[in-house]
Order: sequence, then C-alpha cells, then structure tokens
Amino acid sequence: MHFGVDYYPEHWPEDRWAEDIRLMKQANFNIVRLAEFAWTKMEPVENEYHFEWLDKIISLFEESNIKVVLCTPTATPPKWLMDKYPDIYPIDEYGHVRGYGSRRHYCFNNETYKEYTKKIVKAMANHYKNNKTVVTWQLDNEFGCHNTVRCYCDDCEKAFQKYLENKYETIENLNEKLGMAFWSQTYYSFESVIIPRHTVCDYKEGKMLAHNPGLWLDYCRFASQSVDDYAALQIEVLRENGVTVPITHNFMAKFYDIDYNKHAKLYDFVSWDCYPNIVHGPFDDIMEVSFQHDMMRGYKNRKFWIMEMSSGPGGWNFMGRAPDPAQLRLWTYQAVAHGADGILYFRWRPCLFGTEQYWHGILDHDGIGRDRYKIIKQVGAEFKTLESIIDRTENVSEVCMIRSFDNVWSHDYQWHSQGFDYNQILSYMHIALSKLNINCDVTDFSHDLSKYKLVIIPAYNISTAENAEMLRKYVKNGGNALITFRSGNRDEYNKINGLTIPGYFRELAGIDVINYDALGKDMIKIKGVTGDSLAAVWADIIDQKDCEVLAAYDDCFYKNSPCITKNSVGKGTVYYMGCHTDVDTYQKVLKVITENIQTTKLVDKAVEGVETVYREYGDKKALFVLNYNDYNVSINILVPVKKTVHLEAFGVTVIY
Ligand code: GLA
Ligand code: ZN
Repeated sequence: MHFGVDYYPEHWPEDRWAEDIRLMKQANFNIVRLAEFAWTKMEPVENEYHFEWLDKIISLFEESNIKVVLCTPTATPPKWLMDKYPDIYPIDEYGHVRGYGSRRHYCFNNETYKEYTKKIVKAMANHYKNNKTVVTWQLDNEFGCHNTVRCYCDDCEKAFQKYLENKYETIENLNEKLGMAFWSQTYYSFESVIIPRHTVCDYKEGKMLAHNPGLWLDYCRFASQSVDDYAALQIEVLRENGVTVPITHNFMAKFYDIDYNKHAKLYDFVSWDCYPNIVHGPFDDIMEVSFQHDMMRGYKNRKFWIMEMSSGPGGWNFMGRAPDPAQLRLWTYQAVAHGADGILYFRWRPCLFGTEQYWHGILDHDGIGRDRYKIIKQVGAEFKTLESIIDRTENVSEVCMIRSFDNVWSHDYQWHSQGFDYNQILSYMHIALSKLNINCDVTDFSHDLSKYKLVIIPAYNISTAENAEMLRKYVKNGGNALITFRSGNRDEYNKINGLTIPGYFRELAGIDVINYDALGKDMIKIKGVTGDSLAAVWADIIDQKDCEVLAAYDDCFYKNSPCITKNSVGKGTVYYMGCHTDVDTYQKVLKVITENIQTTKLVDKAVEGVETVYREYGDKKALFVLNYNDYNVSINILVPVKKTVHLEAFGVTVIY
C-alpha cells in the first residue's frame, strides 16, 4: 500500500527539507507526489533546464526510502511561453480570452502547446527514466478543473470540423443524421460547421439552450476526445523516452466534461482527488462520497489511488470548517474500503503565499504537526497491520449501476423537467443501497454483467438495441434489472428515436409508457411498496399490460396508473420505475427488490450512519465497518462472522 502526501519543496527553503522528511517518515509515509506545478522551477527560461533542486529532494527521499510520484507540470504553462504564444490561452463561449494569473490556461488543441508539452515531458523523462525512487508518473493536474475542457478558439473549431468530417464523411450525412432541417440549420460544408456557443437564445441556469442537441453532443465528445489525445501524447513521450513505471492522472468526481470511462483506458490505474469536507453533515452527503469511490473503481474495474485526500480545512478566499481529526481517519478508511490502495494527503503544509494559503494540510502554517498529524500518523501505523487486506482483497458487489457519459451530456443539455439531475438519480439510489448495507459497483455496458444479482439502469436515454440485447441475455439467464424513467428513447445522435417508451427496453420492461408528466418542482402522491410517498421531477404514466404493479400514483388525472412495475423475463425479472423520488423511498423500493432476489445480508439490521463494505480474496473475507455518527454505536454484523461490533464516534474497524 502506498501512503503519503503531496509535497511542494519549491515553496520551502532547502534547510527545511530534511525536517519535513523526518516528520513524514515518522508518520509512516512511503510516497510523496512532486512537481505538478513546477514548470518555471524546472525551465525558468526557454531551453534552460534546472533539475538540480528536484534531484536533490528526490535523493533525500531516496535516503529515507520514500518513493516519488513525479508529475508533468503542464497545468501551469510559464509566463515566458504565454507571452511568446498568446494563442495558447483558451477562449470562452463569449469569445473572451481566459488569461494569465491562475492555472490551466491552455487549449488542448493548440499545436504550439503540444510541441512545448512534448519538450518538457521529454526532458523530464530523459532525466528521470532510470531513477528508481520515481515509481509512478502523474500527467498534468486535474484535466478539466476550472471548466477547462471546452474551448471555443479557432483551433478547436477547425479540429472539431475535422472530427465531424471523419465521423460523417459528407456534410449531407451530418445534416441528415443530426436533423439540421430544423430552423434551417443546414450546413453547406464542414468548414461552415460551428462549435455550439453563445447565440441570440441566451443561457439559463448556466446552460446553453438552443443549439442542435446532436451537434452539442458531438462537441462534448470531441472536447473530451481532445483531452484524451493530449494525455496520450504525454504518455507516448514518456514511454518513447524510457519511462516504464505506471502512469496515472488525478480525476475528479464532480467533473463531468471528460468521458472517464474512455479516459481511464489510457492509464495503468486511476487516481482521484477526494475532499469530503463535510463536518457533521448529513449521512447522505458522505454516502455520496462512497458513490464517487465506487465510480472511480468502476472506470477500470480495479483498485485506485487517492492522489489528493483532504487533510484539513480548505479554502481559497475563505476557509471551510475544520474536520474532527477522527473524520480524517474515517475518510481515509472509507476510501480504502471502496478500493483505494494508495492514499496521498493534500497537502503537507499550508503555503505561506499564493492563492491557496488558506488551504490547510497535515502540518500548520508554522510547520508544526498537531492533531491532524497525530491521527494520520496513527492511520499509517494501522495500515501496516492491515496491509494484506488492503492489497489483496477486492470489493465484491452483487449489485451494479450503469452510467454513461453520453447520457451525462445529453441529460445536461435537455434535462426533461426542472430539477432533473442525472447524477442525483444515480447517487440517491447508490446512497439508498449503502443505507441497506448493500454494496454497488458503478460501471458501463462494456463490462461483464453476469456476476451481478441486480443491474440498475437509471435514466439511460441514449441507448442502443445492443444494450437492450445484452440486458435481455443477462435477465433471461436469471439476472434482474431495474430500469428507470427516461431510458431507451434516444439514439447516438441525441435524437428521439420515435419508439414507444421505454424504447429499446420496452419489451424487457413489458410495459408501454402512454403518457408522462414533467413534474418540475411539484411532487405528487404515490403508494404501494413505496408506502405513502412522493414522486418528484418526472412521472411516466404506464400501461402495465401483464406486469405486476408494485406502486401507483395517487394523484392527478393518472391516479391509480402504475409507477413501478415488475415483469418476469426468462429466469429473471425486470423492474421499471417511472418516477424520481427521495433517498428514503428509493430505499423502500430497493429493499423490496433486493429481498426478492435475495442479496447477501451483511448485517442483521441497518444502523443509521453506519456503512459496511465487503471485500474478499479466496478464503480471505473482510468487512469494513464505518461509523459516520459523532456518537458511539453498535451493529450486529453477519459477515464474515456473526458478531456485535462497537464503534466510537467516527470510528472504524475491519473485521476479517
Ligand atoms: C485541487 C487541485 C489541487 C489544489 C486543491 C485545493 O484538487 O488538484 O492542486 O488546488 O484542489 O484547492
Ligand atoms: Zn481551443
């Protein structure tokens, strides 16, 4: 297991370095991340490379047997470069230059920037390829942070036109596939196609309104692909110049502009930056973080690292609340429980200058380690005893949830009903499952579904006949599926496919949606397995045909029309849910479904605020039990042994 911290030696006098390393060693750290923003330190003037300082700190780490994640510094293009080639700056949707003074000020499609990227990455690769202390490389830093995936410059527009030409071959084909007949938007050449940007139909709620939805989706895909290409270019340079160790990048859970399912394929493993700074926040919020961990594990279906783990109050212009030190321990275990086998805290010591001088780390500004240091040191010692569990066992879930970025983008552009939020639908269901002590993978249709007892397909609007076929095979052989509203109705061009809803999934669900009601902010009564509850955002009005009805509306002109149905298909079952609701109600619905299909019970009875995560490897079975309450609890677990577990406030234990 890798356990360590993000360190910025360039911010501190050299005579402090040895003391920092001594404290890190004492805290049981075995890895640090270096240099992701240090371009001007490495190349202060064009072609003048200075690696002496970095060599020196890396050799000090080597002496202490602390390994290094070395980063390419391309998130911070130097001023000398920007002054020489100002066309590297990204352009916003209004045509404004997003200028100098922070970070990430570059366009992914700028050829000059690509050349300079190659140069610095090559110089670093050549210098460090044989350095045994450097065990991993991180590319750049948080691609997409500060809303930087989508650029509107001329280079991007030209590259987008090429992308469309490759895809559609003729402009007539593009016009037809995307439906450009609407509002006379027919293009006469690929050179005449635009990047969807500011028009006379302005933005509302931060979203563009009026462009062709298909062109918008292609632009989202193109922009995401541009990041893939830029990352691939860096990887190629590293590999061609002798770097053999694993390469990763630090993802972010709430960035939706990069198709991480695709992007993750570029790397040897995924890492992400996790900031669950919720102090005494509701259990649901911290369970959303568990959902995010599961998403990250799902991108490659393997263990991941936390490249930046919150280690104190954060803030740029103002600060957030101070976490209870016990929460730092809890959040770290939460990550590990969900599959992290590398943890690096952000950051070692808060800076005395710059934008992030309020962003706290393990030490305080004065360089002294107090409560946060002590608890993290304790966690390091505990992980030594848990090493074989952490490294060897894998998360095993009986339920999985399918999510796609085409749907992230499509729903984001035409969100059906006020308040519709794709992420919220998925996270509510995932949180509901956590509260039922049921573990859930998050994945896409490219992975094997046969190992799951239940596959949940929420709001899977952009879909294909192949998706439905895959699901049909899975269900026929005894699998179970839960499909929800706004599924199956759109094709890959983001056009409504004209099939009776739920389109591709209609036969499986065994129902017809004969009408619907975009509820917006209104809520309406429902009853059945949901108890007396409320539907939110959307209501599909369903002709259930031969299906069993599990819940129905108790309101409006469609009172008594079903909202949740159950259909037998082969050896399996397909459930359909026509409305959104709250976490509690999802919990009731999922309880009925998982009881029907007999998922394994990890605990005797759920305890509010307590999460359980199951892992196994061969005969070795482990259960992580995490208490997010600020008070003591007891819980009766059934796996891997029957036992009553007592946990203090924010306490954690691993039973194996
Ligand atoms: C992100 C970045 C870090 C730092 C932190 C705190 O996660 O990757 O460089 O800026 O946020 O703001
Ligand atoms: Zn651009």
